Order: sequence, then C-alpha cells, then structure tokens
Amino acid sequence: MVRDKGCGDIRESDTGSTLTICGWVFRRRDHGGLIFIDLRDRSGILQIVFSPDASGNAHKLAHDLRSEFVISVSGEIRRRPADTENPNMITGMVEMYVNRIEVLNESSPLPFTIEDAADASDTLRLKHRYLDLRRPEMQRNLIVRHKGTKVIRDYLDEKGFIEIETPVLTKSTPEGARDYLVPSRLNPGHFYALPQSPQLFKQILMVSGFEKYFQIVKCFRDEDLRADRQPEFTQVDIEMSFADRKDIIEEIEGMMKQLFKDVLDVELDTPFNRLSYHESMERFGTDKPDLRFGLELKEMADLAEKGTFKVFLDAHKSGGRIKAINGKGMAGLSRKEIDMLTEEAVSFGAKGLAWIKVKNGFESPIAKFFPEEILRQMAQRLEAKEGDLMLFVADKEKVVLDVLGRLRLEMGKRLDLITQGYKFVWITDFPLLEWNDDEGRFEAMHHPFTSPLDEDIEKMLTGDIGNKEVLSSLRAKAYDIVLNGYEIGGGSIRIHRRDLQRKMFELLGISGEDARVKFGFLLDALEYGAPPHGGIALGLDRLVMIMVGAASIRDVIAFPKTQKASDIMSGSPSKVHPKQLKELYIKIDLPEV
Ligand code: AMO
Ligand code: AMP
Repeated sequence: MVRDKGCGDIRESDTGSTLTICGWVFRRRDHGGLIFIDLRDRSGILQIVFSPDASGNAHKLAHDLRSEFVISVSGEIRRRPADTENPNMITGMVEMYVNRIEVLNESSPLPFTIEDAADASDTLRLKHRYLDLRRPEMQRNLIVRHKGTKVIRDYLDEKGFIEIETPVLTKSTPEGARDYLVPSRLNPGHFYALPQSPQLFKQILMVSGFEKYFQIVKCFRDEDLRADRQPEFTQVDIEMSFADRKDIIEEIEGMMKQLFKDVLDVELDTPFNRLSYHESMERFGTDKPDLRFGLELKEMADLAEKGTFKVFLDAHKSGGRIKAINGKGMAGLSRKEIDMLTEEAVSFGAKGLAWIKVKNGFESPIAKFFPEEILRQMAQRLEAKEGDLMLFVADKEKVVLDVLGRLRLEMGKRLDLITQGYKFVWITDFPLLEWNDDEGRFEAMHHPFTSPLDEDIEKMLTGDIGNKEVLSSLRAKAYDIVLNGYEIGGGSIRIHRRDLQRKMFELLGISGEDARVKFGFLLDALEYGAPPHGGIALGLDRLVMIMVGAASIRDVIAFPKTQKASDIMSGSPSKVHPKQLKELYIKIDLPEV
C-alpha cells in the first residue's frame, strides 16, 4: 500500500501507531528546531512535525520543501501537547512525527497560493483551474455535486424512472436561445445543433411507451452569460406519461426532500409553497421570488387616484400601474442617498422614484399632493411605521413590477433581511403566450408543446391571432420551481392532441410547412397514439450552487467557461487548421475591424 490513510481521516484513536500518508504541502512553518507542515489530500489536512529527534535526515529534507510539493511521509501519530490542539481542525487533536520522507514530485512556484486562491483574479484562477480545484472548498463543492447526483439517480431509479441517453448531435430544438452548430462533413452544408434540452426526444420516448424517463444531461445554449448561466450546463431531465401536474410536483418534492436530507442533513417541509404567476408578479415583481423576506409590493393606484400628483394620475390614465414597497427603517436616508436610490431605480428602467418618509408625520416633496388621510392609508397598506420610507413607481405594468421587484431584492440585501435556509416555491399557471413587441407576434412562454389549462382550451381553439387580449389571458399547465430567488427548474404538461398542437403553431405564426421542417418528427410521432404526458427539467448546477452556498455556478462546475464563453485553460474556442475547414466546405468571412 502506498498509504495507510487519508490525511483528514486520522484521529486520536490512531495515537501511537506508525502510519504512511501522502499529500501536498499546504502550509509550512519553520520554527528552526521544529518544522510544521499542514499536509493536504482530498480527505483533509493533518499537521506533520519534523524534529531532529525523530529523524535528522527528514528534518534536513523538510527545509527544502516548498508549497504544493507532493510528498510521502511515515511517522508516529502523537497526541498534540496541551494548549497546542486546534479545535477548528477535525484532525486538530493529533499530529505526525515524521521519521521518513520521500518527495514524490516538486512544484514550480505558484501563480497564487492555494490558500488565498479565492482572492486571485478569475482569469488567473481559470487559467490554472487545476490549482483552483485543489482548494478544499472547491473539492467539497464537487463532492456535494457528486453525492447529490447519486441521490437523485437512486431516487428516480427507485421510483421506476429509466435513464435513457438522447443524441448530442441533433436537430435544433426550440427553447428560445441560440443554438451551437456543428457542421457535418458527410453532408456538406448541413449542420447539427447541440441540444438546448432533450425536449423533443423525451416526448418521443413517451410515445414509445417508456412512461418514466430521466437523464442527467448536458445542455447547450448560446446566450448571454451571468452568474447563474453557463453555455453548457446540466439538467436533471424528467418526463412521465399518464401524469398530471400534481404527480410531477409530488415526485420532485419527494426528490428534493431526499436530496437535502442525504446530502445536507436538512429536513425540508413539503408540500412547498405555491403561487400563481399572477400572484407572484403582483406581490414580488418577479416569477422567481425570494421568499426568505417580506417587503412585498402593494397596490397604490386606488389611493394615488385620490391625490393630485401628475406623475401618478398620468400613469393611471394611460393604463399604467402604481405600486410601492416599504423601505423598512430607511427614513433616515439623506437627500443624496435617496437620489442614489432613485438612480438605481432609473437604471432598472423606471422614470423616477417617488418617496414619502414616515417621520414626524409625512415628509416628502409629493406629500402636498395628497390629503393627510390618504397618506395614512398608504402607510397602513405598506405597514409603514415611524422611521420607514415608502417608495413608489408609476409606469407601464411591466416596468413597475420589474423595477420594484429588483428594488425589493436590493433592499432585502441592504437591510440584511435575507435569512439562512431554503425557501422553495412552485410558480404555476403561467401565461401560455407572451407578446414579443419587437417581432410583433406571440411567443410560447415555456415552449410550443406546453398544454393550456383545460378551462382555457375552448378559448384557445376559438381565439384568433388578432385577439391579443384573449390570447394573453390563456394560461398554461406550466410550472417552475424556485429556490431562494433562483429558478431551479421548469416544466409543463404537454399537448398530445393534434388539433391543439396545430392551433398552437398557428397562434405562434409558425406555418404548417415551417412546423414540419422544424419539428416534423415530433408531429409524426404524435399521430400514433401519444399518451398524455408531461415533465420537468431541473438546473443541476444552480441547485448545487445554492446547496453549497456558492455565488456562481462556476464554483460547482469543474471546468466552466468565462463571460465570453471561453475556456482559458485549454484555450477554446480556437482557430482550426484550414484543411479541417476545407473538408467541411467552410469559408471564414470576418467583417473588417
Ligand atoms: P428550461 O429552459 O426552463 O426548461 O430549463 C430548465 C432549467 O435549466 C436551468 N438552466 C440553466 N442553468 C445554467 N445555465 C443555463 N444557461 C441554463 N438555462 C437553463 C434552469 C432552468 O429552470 N425542456 C424544458 C423542460 C421541460 O419542459 O421539461 C427546459 O429545458 O434551472
Ligand atoms: P418630478 O415631477 O419629475 O419633479 O418628480 C417628482 C418625484 O417623482 C421625484 O422624486 C421623481 O423621482 C418621482 N417620479 C418621477 N417619475 C416617476 C414615476 N414614473 N414613478 C414614480 N416616481 C416618479
């Protein structure tokens, strides 16, 4: 055996035994007579001691050890002398007195120390990702990811789901982002797309009679990147036949319960909260609300109407909305600080931010436009007490909800209201269709295979493309699962009736021919006895990110990409040899810069 135990596995019960361990030199303290090294491997860290008494030779060699040298050492495990124990380390009661050392490999000087890697620039860390990944925190993140994935697989297996792989070289599926394309050498001028999700294939597997499918699968989307978005990410993709929304929601709640129990030892309460899309938008200004704190948005139009403030009256008259939130305890803000808050609201898209301080009565440039009684009612609705700051936005509905929703989050952070813990919520009854102003047509809010609510089917079949109001009011059998303000999954019950699917395409302005070209194979499959079915996909990276408390999904992906979708360690994407392009009949035609 090369080693007897992991560094982090050594305990007081090992006292007295002579063991061999291996690892990387993490920290080194040279006290002249004694040299202390924290030796690190995946299991953890053990303090090892080089003393001339234990071995003069080893002590001499220890002088030349540098950070991240890989060594093998043998020696006696001793209890640490009183007052030198480290209760913060799991191995902190013991240490090894080294009597043999072998340097297995040396290391060049490091671009950053492993200990302080978190402070190094992102570029440097990503370039030397192998070093960044040596950090105990990163190792823990990936171990949690592994464990979580295993719990999910076992849970779904237990419940009768079968994992089936679907193609990576495929035809583009309509999730709404841009596709990554792969040229086909054997079919010049033709391209595969990397899947944005296995959506069409999993529906076809239902037509094929598999009934319960899952796959832990890479998906690819060429979209603008953020902290919770990568160009390639992993879904826990699920589809079930003969299931309704309730069945799918229950399966996922059971899975989450098991996952959090087994991996984090956290008991989740089920069923999770439910909010309709409409209620979520009205109360939180977003369809992914963070329910760990209050500061809800309140309706103000009826009260605003009773004053003479032109901004509010104009917004109301032109069909806009007026809502407000309570900046708890913020009446002490100076004019300058309020101006900064206003600038923030403007950067979110508002035209301004009206405010009223509850401070010895009501203090505000707009207080004069309202009778005292109305101001009191506003305060009452917002539960604003002495010392609070009421913040109003008047605008088109979309702007009001979005700006106040973002302001709410910002204030939640600033006022330190966001508690620890896990707040799940299902968002249901999404609109079926969403108007795209730029393109002047409706788009599917989820995807074109999402079923309307039963009670809206009649309206949908008889609604024509011209009737914007009716079409906007159609609701879908779609649901998202949200955790602490992140959308960690989404799905729907699918359309399995041909007439409905055809109508859906018609409403989306997709011609029969277009539909055939894009999703002909699914439409064909639906002709042959498709069972009612539905499913969901969870964003595994986001879920693990929240479980480990990371700020970005990059911290739970071994080899993530940068904001510009590149991997600076391997240097991809990169140019390719002209010969490769020639084989594919591809010419590069870059614009002049
Ligand atoms: P959707 O597009 O909502 O649904 O994706 C499901 C979940 O995947 C995660 N996700 C991402 N995570 C990281 N980076 C990204 N770029 C990214 N994009 C999405 C989110 C999201 O909730 N086929 C449907 C599911 C279905 O209907 O069954 C789908 O893909 O957490
Ligand atoms: P004004 O009438 O432009 O001087 O604005 C008076 C106050 O109303 C200022 O505090 C503005 O920030 C605020 N305000 C302006 N437009 C809006 C709006 N659309 N919604 C809320 N407050 C606004």
